[in-house]
This record gives sequence, C-alpha cells and structure tokens, in this order.
Amino acid sequence: MAKVNQVASIRIVILYLSTISLAIAARVVPVLVPSLLPNYDKPNSKIFDTSKYGILQLNNGLAQTPQMGWNSWNFFACNINETVIKETADALISTGLADLGYVYLNIDDCWSAARRNSKGQLVPDPKAFPSGIKVLADYVHGKGLKLGIYSDAGAFTCQVRPGSLHHENDDAELFASWGVDYLKYDNCFNLGIKPKERYPPMRNALNATGRIIFYSLCEWGVDDPALWAGKVGNSWRTTDDINDTWASMTTIADLNDKWAAYAGPGGWNDPDMLEVGNGGMTYQEYRSHFSIWALMKAPLLIGCDVRNMTAETLEILSNKEVIAVNQDPLGVQGRKVYVAGTDDCLQVWAGPLSGHRLVIVLWNRCSKPAIITAGWDALGLESSTSVSVRDLWKHKDVMGDAVASFSTQVDSHDCEMYILTPQTAVSYEI
Ligand SMILES: *[C@@H]1O[C@H](CO)[C@@H](O)[C@H](O)[C@H]1NC(C)=O
Ligand SMILES: *[C@@H]1O[C@H](CO)[C@@H](O)[C@H](O)[C@H]1NC(C)=O
Ligand SMILES: *[C@@H]1O[C@H](CO)[C@@H](O)[C@H](O)[C@H]1NC(C)=O
Ligand SMILES: *[C@@H]1O[C@H](CO)[C@@H](O)[C@H](O)[C@H]1NC(C)=O
Repeated sequence: MAKVNQVASIRIVILYLSTISLAIAARVVPVLVPSLLPNYDKPNSKIFDTSKYGILQLNNGLAQTPQMGWNSWNFFACNINETVIKETADALISTGLADLGYVYLNIDDCWSAARRNSKGQLVPDPKAFPSGIKVLADYVHGKGLKLGIYSDAGAFTCQVRPGSLHHENDDAELFASWGVDYLKYDNCFNLGIKPKERYPPMRNALNATGRIIFYSLCEWGVDDPALWAGKVGNSWRTTDDINDTWASMTTIADLNDKWAAYAGPGGWNDPDMLEVGNGGMTYQEYRSHFSIWALMKAPLLIGCDVRNMTAETLEILSNKEVIAVNQDPLGVQGRKVYVAGTDDCLQVWAGPLSGHRLVIVLWNRCSKPAIITAGWDALGLESSTSVSVRDLWKHKDVMGDAVASFSTQVDSHDCEMYILTPQTAVSYEI
C-alpha cells in the first residue's frame, strides 16, 4: 500500500460505494463523506442558525472577511498626531503584522480641528496633523496599507469636533479626495434622531464619491443594528465601548453572541476593537479575547501601541492559525453552544469553517482550572463522527480520531482553541 496520510493508513473503511472513478480509487484516497455532516457549505445547520446569513449585505465588494488592522483609540485616545500614525504604519510593516492581514490603519476621534473652515469643510487639526490627511494617506498607501478615518452621525464627535450629520456629501467627498479607505462613523450628539435615519445618508454619500470606502457603523448596538445595518454598512457595533478589563471583554462577547445569525460576507457584527497588549488583562485573558473575537468573525482591529509591543502581545496578535479562523471564507460567526458550572462559567464556543471543519474554543471563565468537554451533540455532529483535532495555540495535532466528545483541562480565564476536521473518511482500495 502506498504511504498515504495518517488517517487513511489507520482506518480503511468502506462506508459506501459510489460513483468515485476507478482511476482515483486505484490509489488509496480518503474521501470525506459530505452526507454524514451538516451541509456547512450552504450553510445551514440547526446548531449554527444561519437563517439570516448574508441576506442584508451592502455589497460594495468589501468585507468578504472581517476587516483587520489597527485603530488609535484604545491606546492613544485623543493623544494622536501624524508622527504616531506614520510610526504605526512603519511598525505594522516591520513587525510582520501587515503581512498577516492587518492592513487598515484607522485614525479615530481627535484628528480634526474644532471648527469647519469658511467653506464648511472639515480641517485636520493643525497642531496634530500639520501636513494634512492626504499626505498621510499617500504615506500609508506607499507601504501597501489602507487609511481609515473617523466621523460622527451627529452634530459633534464624541470629543466635540464637528460631526457629519447633514454634511454627509461634503465630508464623504473630502475623505475620498484625500484617499481615505475606511470610515468609522460614531453616534455622539445625535440630536435624538434614529440611527436608521442618520446612517444611510453617509452610505449613499460614500457610494456617490465613486471611491470604494469601508463603512463601519458605530451606533453602539442601541437600535439592534444587526436587524437593519447589513444594508447600510460593512460592520456594525453591537455593544457599548469595550474597556481593558476582563469584565468588559466577557460582557461584550456575550452581547455580540446574540446576533451571530446576522453576520456574513459583506457585513459583520462588531463587538469593538481589541484590547490585547494594553495591560489590563493577563496573557490568558488576552488569548481568550483574541480567540473568541476570531471565532465570532469580529473585526480584528489592534488597539495597542504596535511600536512597543511585548513578545507575548505580538505572539497573540500574530497567531496565523487563529487569524485564519477569523478570515475563513465560509464566513459564519461562531457562537456559544454549551455551558456548565457555576454561573455557566465553563463554556464551549464553536462555529463551522470551510471544508466541513469546525472551530471550537473551550473557555474557562471560572476562577479555578477545570476540565471542559465539547460533546458532539453540542457541535451538531453525529456522535460516531471521527475528527482529527488540531490545537491552534500549541500549533500541534493532538488527536487523530476523536469520537463523541473532546475534553481538556483549561486554566482559569484561559481558553484552548481547536480545529476539528471530520475523518469519517472513505478509503477505496480496489
Ligand atoms: C505625538 O503623539 C505621541 C503619542 O501621544 C507623543 O508621544 C508625541 O510627543 C507627539 N508628538 C508630537 C510632535 O506632538
Ligand atoms: C454603489 O452602490 C452600487 C449599488 O449597490 C454598487 O454596485 C457600487 O459598487 C457602489 N459603489 C461604490 C463606490 O461603493
Ligand atoms: C468597563 O466595562 C465594564 C463592563 O461593561 C463596566 O462595568 C465598567 O464600568 C467599565 N469601566 C470603565 C473604566 O469604563
Ligand atoms: C513600552 O511599553 C512599556 C510597557 O510594556 C512601557 O513601560 C514603556 O514606557 C513603553 N515605552 C514607550 C517608549 O512607550
């Protein structure tokens, strides 16, 4: 017998004979049997309700997978200037983060002056951005990155700079003329007008510029944007702002989970930007934060100072296997599928991936180490389905043929993350 992969060599199972050609069959070839598995490629399974999947999406060609990049707010807040932005662009390149997909460099609030100019245009703050935004966009583009900017669907931004409400067309044109690629659109000073009225005009204005601009809605989840924002933007915040604490991160994960069925290529639920590397959580907690955000198909927008990261921070943010889960082309948001323990603190989160695979995160939110078990019934798998198990943090295959369930010990506030690949394979040897 020819040396084939591990699975085929340990199990030669003929489950059924089909129309597989003899040409293939003459060699020993493992073939997955799609009929034994939920049909994820549609996708439609009872566990991972995708009934709302992709039905609303904006279709401006962007956000086929969740956006990746960096945003200034979580670390710098208002303390930004063109030097920091340029150095961040340089750091995204030199650290290798840009090569991993973190390409949007997004400037948050405080880039603009306190007043519009005499023509009614927004003006970059002359002290912080004396060279202007276009120069910065050119710099960023020269490095193969994309530039994001910020405004507000209200009279003022949250830091009381001019807002874009009723200035949508002028501001969108200005952003496009600078070469902006992304707009985060906030919700302060909104005059009590409904988000459903305030957010579509900017979509139309951006579209009218003819420049393809990613449109990120930030109405804090107040009007259940998952229900309507897919037609308006490429992502929509589902919650209030994150802060750099375990309590905030876990609360937000749970809130965002509710809307899983509404995400899909073109439009994503946004549980806010990453806090990894900002110092308020432990290594284990940040690893959980990053794992769950990746599984939830959340935007991966780094929120720390990438010019000055610890090795641990860089290790978390540059885990290729976890990033690949987030960027998986199937684009189904994973979700919480099983809980046990006090206050449901032992959790299994899971989601379907392309190629009939599953991602699972065993997340220990309790205060002590514990064993967490993912049963196949909770994952929508037949209990007889055999899967191989790959650990995405240890970067190792840990089991070739798990059946019915998979258990592991998980430290407090830590998680383990795996990809399960069904191995209920048919090997034909004729
Ligand atoms: C730019 O901002 C950074 C970060 O807040 C600060 O350290 C630096 O002094 C600022 N530079 C200028 C020229 O204002
Ligand atoms: C504008 O919207 C139309 C219709 O949805 C779409 O086909 C087109 O690609 C959009 N253009 C831009 C620049 O977003
Ligand atoms: C951080 O978020 C948590 C949970 O949402 C909240 O209770 C807390 O007040 C927030 N802390 C700060 C400093 O905003
Ligand atoms: C780099 O980060 C460390 C904390 O990890 C901090 O103590 C130090 O001041 C930072 N250095 C600069 C130049 O920002």
